[in-house]
Amino acid sequence: MNFDLNSLIRNNIRNLKPYSSARSEFSGTAKVFLDANENSLGSPLTKWYNRYPDPQQIQLKEKLSFIKKISPDEILLGNGSDECIDLLIRAFCEPKEDNIIICPPTYGMYEVYGHINNVEVKEVPLLPDFNLHLEAIETAIDEHTKIIFLCSPNNPTGNNLNREDIEMVLNNFNGMIVLDEAYINFSRHRSFVPALKDYPNLVIMQTLSKAWGLAALRIGMIFANQEVINVLNKIKPPYNINGASQELAIGALDNLEEVNTMIRETIEHREELVKALQQIYIVEKIYPSDANFLLVKVTRANEIYAFLKERGIIVRNRSNVILCDECLRITVGTSGENEELVKALKLFN
Ligand SMILES: Cc1ncc(COP(=O)(O)O)c(C=O)c1O
Repeated sequence: MNFDLNSLIRNNIRNLKPYSSARSEFSGTAKVFLDANENSLGSPLTKWYNRYPDPQQIQLKEKLSFIKKISPDEILLGNGSDECIDLLIRAFCEPKEDNIIICPPTYGMYEVYGHINNVEVKEVPLLPDFNLHLEAIETAIDEHTKIIFLCSPNNPTGNNLNREDIEMVLNNFNGMIVLDEAYINFSRHRSFVPALKDYPNLVIMQTLSKAWGLAALRIGMIFANQEVINVLNKIKPPYNINGASQELAIGALDNLEEVNTMIRETIEHREELVKALQQIYIVEKIYPSDANFLLVKVTRANEIYAFLKERGIIVRNRSNVILCDECLRITVGTSGENEELVKALKLFN
């Protein structure tokens, strides 16, 4: 492999002089802060909220660093993983010139942010068993391919990608590989985070929105080598993680045991849901899942989706997505919610 980070960065970003915010120019302790045009009198909430938050989220990153066993300098936080995807494309892809590769069916925002940034999106569909089509990826790569997005466990299929396939791409592609591990806490596979030291071209995304149950806080994480994080830091909005979210997430991260219990419970509910769904005649296939949802092939997806909706039960209709004919994606709920779903499905005929 012949990886050169500097040559991958867009010229304007390489040469960019980033904005220097008040809170990044002075970040120590002081008696009087008159540098950021905040409201010195306070706010209708607690006094604390009248101040801009830490642009580098140091306390939060230190906690994450302890949990993920990675240096705080190898972490970038985004306003959800969605902001992380946007930052990555903006850092590396020249509009109208470069391209990214995605492997559908997969998470939709890689494509959307590609298009928002006017970057070509090359689609290399997964194989029918939902693994990577390595030869087709190799064919799709050209001199303008800057990022390959991989998602494992994949949304909406729920499977892990083969580890050896991911390694094959990492070992042979000179651009960036973004591995989205949003659902890794539910997976039997190990995270690639420890492999960051072996692969300068690897960028891992995780989120607090899934296993951690903090979707409303909008905190996405990028783990990568420090050189990559430095590039992303240049272009992120200065205060992209708001103060309330930082404060709440710092508190939440002390509850690892509780989160592990929820993960175990979700997996148990998933397996119970599989068993219950197997008994229903409209269910044709339940794909194996390593995530907190199931991809389920049914007899008539559109009609079943509408039938559930009428009863106040919302699932995700994926039947128009490649390789997902007649499929619904169903998030694992509480046992009560799962029972309601199963009861409603039994009524459909
Ligand atoms: C694979 C994947 N990545 C990222 C996200 C979005 O995460 P966030 O809430 O951090 O923006 C989702 C949300 O469903 C997802 O399925």
